Amino acid sequence: MTRDAGAATLRVSVTDRCNLRCAYCMPEEGVPLLPRGEIPSLTELASAVAWLVARYGVDRVKVTGGEPLVRGGVPEFVAKVAAIPGVNEISMTTNGTRLAGTAAELAKSGLARVNVSLDTVDPVRFRELTRGGRVEEVLAGIDAALEAGLTPLKLNSVLRRSSFRDDVPALLDLAAEKGVEIRFIELMQTGTEAAWAIAERVNGADVRDWLTSEGAEIAPLPDRPNAPARRSAISWRGRKVLAGWIDPVSHSFCDDCDRLRLDARGRLRRCLMDDLAFPLVDLLRRGEADVAAAAASYVAGKQPPAAMTIGSTMASIGG
Ligand code: 5AD
Ligand code: SF4
Repeated sequence: MTRDAGAATLRVSVTDRCNLRCAYCMPEEGVPLLPRGEIPSLTELASAVAWLVARYGVDRVKVTGGEPLVRGGVPEFVAKVAAIPGVNEISMTTNGTRLAGTAAELAKSGLARVNVSLDTVDPVRFRELTRGGRVEEVLAGIDAALEAGLTPLKLNSVLRRSSFRDDVPALLDLAAEKGVEIRFIELMQTGTEAAWAIAERVNGADVRDWLTSEGAEIAPLPDRPNAPARRSAISWRGRKVLAGWIDPVSHSFCDDCDRLRLDARGRLRRCLMDDLAFPLVDLLRRGEADVAAAAASYVAGKQPPAAMTIGSTMASIGG
């Protein structure tokens, strides 16, 4: 990383499993199970987080998956990470399906806020896209998270050509009603459904043009440093909604990326698009000498990717 050490973000995937099967993310049958010995315990993962915090100026930690809440013990993990000196904020990206039952406990454990993935509020389209999910669970999860104070809550919505004209207005209505921010993400071809992903991809700019033609007023806001989303305030049906626009394919934000990732196998990853991983938990477990020097040289090699393509699914790396 070329940036000063002092304000990096670490994303930690606590599992590669998920209870949904979003077409852009996972094959219908799910991801191949990791061999038992390769799955670090949450205690090992928390120790690796502390190790990274002490060395790389990590001050914000985001818990991801797969779906983090399908793994048992996540609230305890959150409490451990929240207690690490230097960690100022711990947040979570979740599909929201299990939030209704866990939001209060997560908040008590020190979780500050959640990002909830929600691409449509239509029950039929939600069930199709996620191959079986129930949107009602997510909506209940959002309410529970707001009630527990896991705020500012952000919705993450992947844009699709076939349905954005229905989904985006309904999502903006929901965001306005709940008083939450929403981020629209361009579809990336990362899963197994390549032809579908190519056909369904739509540019954020096209969606913004369409919204404007529908009477929305979109005012750009100043971007936050190191944030991948371009922010805007949308006047929508008489209300204001904060919306971020994420275009992973143009990857204009890579130059000042300060993220590190720890994947579900406990491997350090310097970039989502970089297949070379550093087996941090494994090396710490074996008490290898010079882990710090080897990790430092791996992290120093972090650079913007040549292309935004990866062989693995988001779920296996941590989206
Ligand atoms: N394209 C765009 N977004 C994706 N996500 C997962 N796979 C893709 C993809 N192929 C998103 C999820 C979630 C976040 C963690 O990553 O929808 O909001
Ligand atoms: Fe699960 Fe999120 Fe992947 Fe959907 S996008 S299958 S919710 S990990």
